[in-house]
Amino acid sequence: MSPNELAARQRAAEIVARDAGLLARRYLDDPGALNVTFKGPQDVVTAADGAVERMIVAALRADFPVDAFLGEEGGGAAGDRCWVIDPIDGTANFARGLPHWCVSIAFVAGGRTEVGVIYDPNGDLLYSARRGAGAWRNAAPIRVSATNDLARATVDIGYSRRTEIPDFARIMTRLLERGVNVTQSQSAALGLARVADGRLDGYAERHLYAWDALAGLLLVEEAGGRVNAFLEGDALTVGNETIAATPALYAGIASALEVV
Ligand code: IPD
Ligand code: CA
Ligand code: CA
Repeated sequence: MSPNELAARQRAAEIVARDAGLLARRYLDDPGALNVTFKGPQDVVTAADGAVERMIVAALRADFPVDAFLGEEGGGAAGDRCWVIDPIDGTANFARGLPHWCVSIAFVAGGRTEVGVIYDPNGDLLYSARRGAGAWRNAAPIRVSATNDLARATVDIGYSRRTEIPDFARIMTRLLERGVNVTQSQSAALGLARVADGRLDGYAERHLYAWDALAGLLLVEEAGGRVNAFLEGDALTVGNETIAATPALYAGIASALEVV
């Protein structure tokens, strides 16, 4: 795809991500409309998730009718030129009124993430990246932190019931033993955006879906960080493990996820 075609998609994603975040916030003003239910163990969904995804897909489809769409709530089909959408990442926080959730939109072409946009409505922070062009937060360039010592690092570690409890406990234990300050903030996409802008030093999780991870991973890469090859194999549809960090810390964090 040409740079112009990709820049047009980045711009469209930035506009719709902001609108989507504001739509999600309106649901919080009317708790009766939220309709919190569980898709599975500790897997929360609200009426806002589906409504926000439908709004994003409708807006992007109007501009790019031949692109494919893959969303957490509405499914869809992966294609060679594919939008990958998480309407609300951090729904467990959103449903409780905790202000740590975001909208995450990625565009994948030829097996590579080309555009990644994350909007944090609570901080009014719009994160945006395009492969080879850079990463920005509210239009200012961002870089990963300069932290190079695990004993001074803060790393966000995600967990879901899709994976084994002992595995998560092992990862957590290894990082704590290496002196890391470990957090678990319940939004993978926002955690990755915080690595990109240097507020966190790393993010890791045994399993994420593409809609959780792709936009944030591109942000980290374009902000000078190191990430795992998430999209290898069939990860676009089944997901993969996710590791993102400053270049100096990557190996130490990745080794905590080694399966022995
Ligand atoms: C979840 C969040 C969470 C991560 C889970 C995801 P959701 O997505 O990103 O931080 O640990 O693996 O499923 O359900 O809030 O969109
Ligand atoms: Ca998610
Ligand atoms: Ca979600």
